Amino acid sequence: MFKKLNILDENNPHLRKISIDAKLPLKKEYKDTINQIIKELTYSQIEEYATKYKLRPGMGLAFAQLGINERIIVIVHEYEDGKFNNYVFVNPRITSYSDEMIAAEAGEGCLSVNRDVEGHIKRHARVTVEGFDVDGNKIKVRAREELSIAFQHEIDHLNGILFYDRIDKNKPFFSEDEIRLI
Ligand code: NI
Repeated sequence: MFKKLNILDENNPHLRKISIDAKLPLKKEYKDTINQIIKELTYSQIEEYATKYKLRPGMGLAFAQLGINERIIVIVHEYEDGKFNNYVFVNPRITSYSDEMIAAEAGEGCLSVNRDVEGHIKRHARVTVEGFDVDGNKIKVRAREELSIAFQHEIDHLNGILFYDRIDKNKPFFSEDEIRLI
């Protein structure tokens, strides 16, 4: 049986809090929640299931969006047609990043923001993220392009930041000469 997550809306105060470090290893309840998130994010990116369960496509979620202000993020990245990699990071930190900046040409979306917000958001083209898996083992990933954007977007959630906070009101769009659009 598939039970949908209760994802909080952008107006919920949990979305604006700074999350605290999660205690490791994670408790069973959190591990179950993570598996549920992975399932829902994966389904949301497969048209058949997205339609069946009325899911808006999304590749990432932070625990804050479920009302749990602890530093846990989940990303399900479709790296090839129909093939997914899962990234579960507890207490993640960006330990290095490229000077090169990119922006998603179509803008970013968020499962807590149920409306279109237009604008380009400058993100590092590549980031190295270090953190822990659910059992407390150290993990590290080098992310690039849309995966790099996803990590930056999700880690922002842990600090109470929503993607549109980063859109420059005076200049919401960039040209290809100003930034590499992906
Ligand atoms: Ni989001």
